[in-house]
Amino acid sequence: MKIGIIGTGYVGLVSTVCFASVGHTLVSIDRRDIIVDSLTRGIPTIYEENMESMLQNTIASKSITFSSDFNALKDCEVVFLAVGTPSLPNGHADLSQVFSAIDSLLPIVSLQTMIAVRSTVPVGTISRIRNYLASQGKQAQMLGFCPEFLREGVAISDFLNPSYLVFASEQKEGCLLLQKVYQPIIDKNPEVKIVCCTTYETAELTKYTINSFLATKITFMNQIAQLAQSSGADMSQLISAIGADRRIGDMFLTPGPGFGGSCFPKDTLSLVKCGISYGVDMSVVEAVNHANERHKEYVASWILEELEKHVYVEGKTIAVWGLTFKAGTDDVRDSAAIKIIRSLLIRNIKVRAYDPKGNQNFQQQVGTPNLVLCSTPIEAIINADALVVLTEWPEFSKVDVSLVKSSMNGTQPFVFDTRGILPLQDFKQQGFITYKFGI
Ligand code: UGA
Repeated sequence: MKIGIIGTGYVGLVSTVCFASVGHTLVSIDRRDIIVDSLTRGIPTIYEENMESMLQNTIASKSITFSSDFNALKDCEVVFLAVGTPSLPNGHADLSQVFSAIDSLLPIVSLQTMIAVRSTVPVGTISRIRNYLASQGKQAQMLGFCPEFLREGVAISDFLNPSYLVFASEQKEGCLLLQKVYQPIIDKNPEVKIVCCTTYETAELTKYTINSFLATKITFMNQIAQLAQSSGADMSQLISAIGADRRIGDMFLTPGPGFGGSCFPKDTLSLVKCGISYGVDMSVVEAVNHANERHKEYVASWILEELEKHVYVEGKTIAVWGLTFKAGTDDVRDSAAIKIIRSLLIRNIKVRAYDPKGNQNFQQQVGTPNLVLCSTPIEAIINADALVVLTEWPEFSKVDVSLVKSSMNGTQPFVFDTRGILPLQDFKQQGFITYKFGI
């Protein structure tokens, strides 16, 4: 099938290379020539595991064309919209990119081409689009919604091995057409659950519900971890017990410095706004957002308070390993590292930070003279008084602990692990004063 995708962010680019890899012919549109040039040369504009090789293979097999010209979408059977829907200052999702893409598309595609929205949108948006199409004389335009459930860092694997797919179309043949696009993936994953929704609102709310439910689960576990820390309970044992309860499940229970990224913060906020629009109380998810922000502050205060029991923190140097909101990505949007590092800088602490993929993006978010971004983990700890781990990159768990010790300042440096990935026993043996949050 000839498929178009508008937008080359995480969702758009992953969808493009994955659909091309299963045999479709893809046209990928981005208005920015610099992005089109880079992708045409096989250089990904985002970091995602296996992206570079898949991009280059699918370009070599002539399965993808990148363009800034919407006319390239002529004759596509389905055009997916994977443009951004960032939060506006008032918390509502900004839908301007969605409507602008539709306006650009309408003069080009026929009524039989399905416009399938893949961007995450507030409940009621696709019905608004249907009404807009009707107002433009295009009431017969094929329309669908196909939310994505991809985790950054493992997005390609999630795309090619889904456990469920959600399609929505109010037109009789709509879901069948979306299923046809996914058929090569469905064939390889016969267990996949396919849910065809008859109203757009069902699929829109499904997407928000999943992300908000997971954000709630993590935030709840972060608060339980605070309580465990204060009371002396062991989180690893607690998680292994509750994870064995099939009604709860063992995923998304790992405490950390607070959730971030481009999805959970935005989608939980947007769900609250949807509740307000429909006059429905969304206080649970509202509380999750507040609790997550307070949790990041809790982690920063915990580090500072523990240090203050031993040293005068002003003027000290702290090394931070991990700046991205999770491992496997270069994305620092709403990363806990932003708030936590700012809390350290405000106390006149010098921060030397390292991330395998996120340094450049972080520099754009928090650039002050007291923050030095380093190109290796060892460079970051030189003469540091304490080390704080904020992202669970596997390379941090494999460090040479004696080298870490000899590079740091003093005979008893401090180490804070907020992700439960360091071999803290080895650090202890080397003379470190160790702290862990959660597991
Ligand atoms: C999330 C969802 O997991 C995807 O299903 C969804 O498609 C995506 O949002 C989206 O809407 O596009 P993502 O934000 O990439 O994916 O990352 P997650 O793996 O869900 O992690 C989100 C945050 O929760 C990270 O900050 C992570 O460190 C944190 N987290 C996750 C924990 O603190 N503990 C956990 O046990 C799991």
